[in-house]
Amino acid sequence: MDHFLYRDGHLCAEDVPMSDIAAAVGTPFYCYSAATLTRHFLLFKEALEPMPSLVCFAVKSNSNVAVLKLLGDLGAGMDVVSIGEYLRAKAAGVPGERIVFSGVGKTPQEMRMALEGGIRQFNVESEPELEALSAVASSMGVEAPITLRVNPDVDAKTHEKISTGRKEDKFGVPISRAREIYARAAALPGIKVVGVDMHIGSQLTDLAPFEAAYTKMRGLVEALRADGHTIDRLDLGGGLGIPYTRSNEAPPLPLDYGAMVKRVLGDLGCEIEIEPGRLISGNAGMLVTQVIYRKSAEEREFLIVDAAMNDLIRPAMYGAHHDIIPVIEAEAGVLPEPFDIVGPICESGDTFAKQRALPPMAPGDLVAFRSAGAYGAVMSSEYNSRPLIPEVMVQGDHFAVIRARPTYDEMIARDSIPAWL
Ligand code: LLP
Repeated sequence: MDHFLYRDGHLCAEDVPMSDIAAAVGTPFYCYSAATLTRHFLLFKEALEPMPSLVCFAVKSNSNVAVLKLLGDLGAGMDVVSIGEYLRAKAAGVPGERIVFSGVGKTPQEMRMALEGGIRQFNVESEPELEALSAVASSMGVEAPITLRVNPDVDAKTHEKISTGRKEDKFGVPISRAREIYARAAALPGIKVVGVDMHIGSQLTDLAPFEAAYTKMRGLVEALRADGHTIDRLDLGGGLGIPYTRSNEAPPLPLDYGAMVKRVLGDLGCEIEIEPGRLISGNAGMLVTQVIYRKSAEEREFLIVDAAMNDLIRPAMYGAHHDIIPVIEAEAGVLPEPFDIVGPICESGDTFAKQRALPPMAPGDLVAFRSAGAYGAVMSSEYNSRPLIPEVMVQGDHFAVIRARPTYDEMIARDSIPAWL
């Protein structure tokens, strides 16, 4: 459930009409609902009760500091994959003890900065990374708390580009070698083993791959404990999928997910950590854009909108579907027409949707892309020298710009011309 609804024919974010926001900030823009973010976070938290748990929001899905502050204030931890994300979490007031550091390529400099600023754990993904972390922590005279990300070799049955838990994927250490690498970790100076970590992929719409992987983790925790390691934490990663279409998708709910986690892992006595991103932020955000032109071509009716693939790359990159809805609802009895909805960028990949039914549209009309709160703004770029678009957060009947649209001068001023040119 989200908090984007039509009231008197006007699409609203909570109590604010989208057209009011468009008038104030211009188009295109991202709009997030504070109530939806809150609701989704609490669903996960409650689903894991009464197990001791920490829900670490996957910052990669939406890293706006206002979003992180809202979730952090509710008690969320943060899952970061770069020191940039770590510093954003810190800027949002999240203490280091609630930040876990994931990712296959942490640099020694990032390790040092995280150790200096305070970190709950590093989710270490390889032996060379383990050695590097040991060297950094020892040189600082501290111990780095670690889990090893274990690759359980389970097919998440999701999009090829976001599947991470098969043995041919680049992530984690093979489960077959986990005990050996844990023994190495325990012997290294500056390293303190605290648990086990895994993440098999994103946008999973079935609990079975999670359950298969968690069952393997259970066996591993028991084996590692028998080997003498202290395994107090089990980080299960993120990945629970969301419905991208209103009509026919019903992925498992956090409550179902939590029940399965309790059934498979509840008696291990581990603190459970999870790293959901998309389920918290995805349907808490929309991208609102304006029709620039309506263009008739042979057998096609194009809507050229002012958002483009640089603002929302998911359709171009993954063939992803986003529901597209009018900001002013069609009057009863008006028949929808099929449109190809495209951006202004000079490549055919800049296509958001083909043959999508919408009420008759004219230049100046606004449409909203649903499910754009996760992997939307964070994956945007300035391709075609289009400045990054603003982000807005709504709470009840008020809204605020939480990232302003840069001016063209600001965008261009980041470049510099060498004195010798
Ligand atoms: N933890 C780790 C270690 C991850 O790699 C990811 C996502 C998550 C947690 C959060 O997964 P979520 O709960 O959001 O599914 N750009 C792609 C998604 C990439 C996901 C990468 N890793 C997209 O737009 O679909």
